[in-house]
Amino acid sequence: AAAEKDGYPSFMEKEIHEQPRAVADTLLGRNDSHGKLTLDELRIDESILRSVDKIIVIACGTSAYVGQVAKYAIEHWCRIPTEVELSHEFRYRDPIVNEKTLVVAISQSGETMDTLMAVRHAREQGAKVLAICNTNGSTIPRESDAVLYTHAGPEIAVASTKAFLAQITASYLLGLYLAQLRGNKFQDEIKTILTDLAAMPEKIQAVLDHEQQIKDLAVSMKDVNSVLFLGRHVGFPVAMEGALKLKELAYIHAEGFAAGELKHGPIALIEEGQPVFVVVPSPNGRDSLHAKVVSNIQEVRARGAKTIVIAEAGDEAVRQYAEHVFYVPATSTLLAPLLTTVPLQIFACALASEKGYDVDQPRNLAKSVTVE
Ligand code: G6P
Repeated sequence: AAAEKDGYPSFMEKEIHEQPRAVADTLLGRNDSHGKLTLDELRIDESILRSVDKIIVIACGTSAYVGQVAKYAIEHWCRIPTEVELSHEFRYRDPIVNEKTLVVAISQSGETMDTLMAVRHAREQGAKVLAICNTNGSTIPRESDAVLYTHAGPEIAVASTKAFLAQITASYLLGLYLAQLRGNKFQDEIKTILTDLAAMPEKIQAVLDHEQQIKDLAVSMKDVNSVLFLGRHVGFPVAMEGALKLKELAYIHAEGFAAGELKHGPIALIEEGQPVFVVVPSPNGRDSLHAKVVSNIQEVRARGAKTIVIAEAGDEAVRQYAEHVFYVPATSTLLAPLLTTVPLQIFACALASEKGYDVDQPRNLAKSVTVE
């Protein structure tokens, strides 16, 4: 078994380190050198993809957070209204679905029963279903109209890491492909994004090269009993994923919030010494997102929070508001989750290991949940 782990103490650590490869392999062969995407494997007629007027992403657990990232990207690039819903909620609420709806089912295993039931329900209503899946020939892709495989390789640890990054990558490819197909005004941006995506494996590696900083932090925080995570825009699902990982692996109470929502409730939780992770968007991004998040950091800090900031390299402005800053390489705003999630995975894994827990097999959880 030790050999299978390539010298890492756990499959989770091994899989965290396989992320540059997982993203590279998921991009492989899908982008020609002229900045054009080719997804020939999608068996759905192009004319159908052109006429889609709504997208609904369904998934569970970590895969559901991919859906949230996909929503920001697809709506921006394609201008197609996109909803994200947990599979089990979608299935039992009489959703509005018809022939013009594209349902995107995201599942690492392809066997999650909640998602499979939702896929069947969507198809019964006439929707086309496209699966984003990591397991060849599994049930969800077999029962879908089309599949875009993530090429992360087998994922053994219960908590998803490399499949998560590969799923996000695949969702970007899908969004860019739809934008390309529908010939909208973002053609130049698509080229830039494809170039940025190609540079991702290297940038993820750069994050991994600095993992010791996060591991040391995790060890120093091993006795905390609550951790909050804040993010805006695509940083919001990253914050929720950071919290989920900590719950799953370290059994610590953790919550992810939209930073803008703080003042509407969660700020009441802040007391002296409360650790708060903040996922900060690029200072060069749109819509003064960065300034908004910086002011959220100040708000929690003024109330005694201990802030741990994940920011873009070169963002010196955040330093004065943070107990700890972890820098990740710069990229376009929408692609940042491929980088900002990684330190949060490392943190949860290191903290749980420090507590002596089995990070590959957390209590009460299964890798693939095949019952509703
Ligand atoms: C289980 C696993 C999670 C996973 C979820 C969805 O609950 O413990 O890590 O995110 O299922 O799995 P899927 O295979 O559908 O992505």
